[in-house]
Amino acid sequence: MLKPDAVANRHIGDIIARFERVGLTIERLELAQVTPEQAAANYAEHVGKPFYDGLIKYITSGPVVKLVVSGEEAIQITRKLMGATNPKDAAPGTIRGDFGLIMDANVIHGSDSPASAVREIGIFFPE
Ligand code: RTP
Ligand code: MG
Repeated sequence: MLKPDAVANRHIGDIIARFERVGLTIERLELAQVTPEQAAANYAEHVGKPFYDGLIKYITSGPVVKLVVSGEEAIQITRKLMGATNPKDAAPGTIRGDFGLIMDANVIHGSDSPASAVREIGIFFPE
């Protein structure tokens, strides 16, 4: 998911180009607003943490781009492209390293395992 800051700062094309360049296949692609229900489901593991309320407010604050990508080792490759969660730790050349500045708006979210991919695709593409 390209988060609201990525869309607002007009980085959609640059970021999606990186997935295509490495050879991943874009299976689904949609600009949409995350609903409060989807946000709560996606971030259920963070309920009660100090950053939770801000996280929900942020992810529902404006349009995002939801993507499903496929390919050999798609999750590992995607996470390598994304870089470390905190932009201050993300290497130059990674998406968060190149387009992000702060942890609260870290440009992109990606599933971290096949199980979370199945769960998250179900949340954001229920059909
Ligand atoms: P990753 O893809 O690197 O696993 O990142 P994530 O978005 O899954 O990170 P996660 O640990 O699940 O946290 C979700 C989002 O919450 C914000 N966050 N802020 N202030 C903090 O300590 C803190 N921790 C997490 C980040 O925006 C993160 O993306
Ligand atoms: Mg994670």
